[in-house]
Amino acid sequence: MDLYADVDAYLVDALQEPDDALSGALERSAAAGLPPIAVAPNQGKLLHLLVRIAGARRVLEIGTLGGYSTIWLARAAEHVTTLELDPRHAEVARENLASAGITNVEVLVGPALETLATLTEPVDFAFVDADKANNPRYVEQVLRLSHPGTVIVIDNTVRQGRVADASSSDSDVLGTRELFDLLRAHPQVDATTIQTVGSKGHDGFTLALVR
Ligand SMILES: C[S@@+](CC[C@H](N)C(=O)[O-])C[C@H]1O[C@@H](n2cnc3c(N)ncnc32)[C@H](O)[C@@H]1O
Repeated sequence: MDLYADVDAYLVDALQEPDDALSGALERSAAAGLPPIAVAPNQGKLLHLLVRIAGARRVLEIGTLGGYSTIWLARAAEHVTTLELDPRHAEVARENLASAGITNVEVLVGPALETLATLTEPVDFAFVDADKANNPRYVEQVLRLSHPGTVIVIDNTVRQGRVADASSSDSDVLGTRELFDLLRAHPQVDATTIQTVGSKGHDGFTLALVR
């Protein structure tokens, strides 16, 4: 873990400029007692680059926390809708977004499955990063809002390797394996999962493209 974190620190230092808005968002989130589970800086930049590569204008995020990943997404997109269950997290996110000068984000509070059911606007890019057991349901809703070319990124789909354990009874692992079944069977989706190591340990993400 020390090696992974040290290399991540080097990589971020090598390729990313210090960014007061992003570091301020992490500091305010920590001061407000939010858990330190935002994406790492190099993962945030990957999301930002993917939105730009896809030419995505309308972005949907499921799981806001303090808005750290939201800032990365909002800097690449025309508009971001981000869904958060916890009103306190949403409040901190709104403060962080305002401090970062971000004005193109709508934070919607409530259980994401309920909020998703009310959404009708098409989505060009989605980042799914809330409670992992519900990932199949979230992706079904994202697919309802998708069109050919929509990109979907689902975070934490390796779970320290536990995802490969077919006997697991962990609800997050079960949700992830069910998600993979859904993606593999879907006639209009191509997907892959990449395992990663870094400052957040051993995990991974799934990248899907709607055909
Ligand atoms: C991993 S954190 C999101 C991190 C954020 N995307 C980032 O990288 O900065 C997951 C967030 O999802 C929220 N969450 C959990 N269950 C949820 C649900 N059912 N509906 C909406 N949000 C939920 C949690 O409150 C938490 O803030």
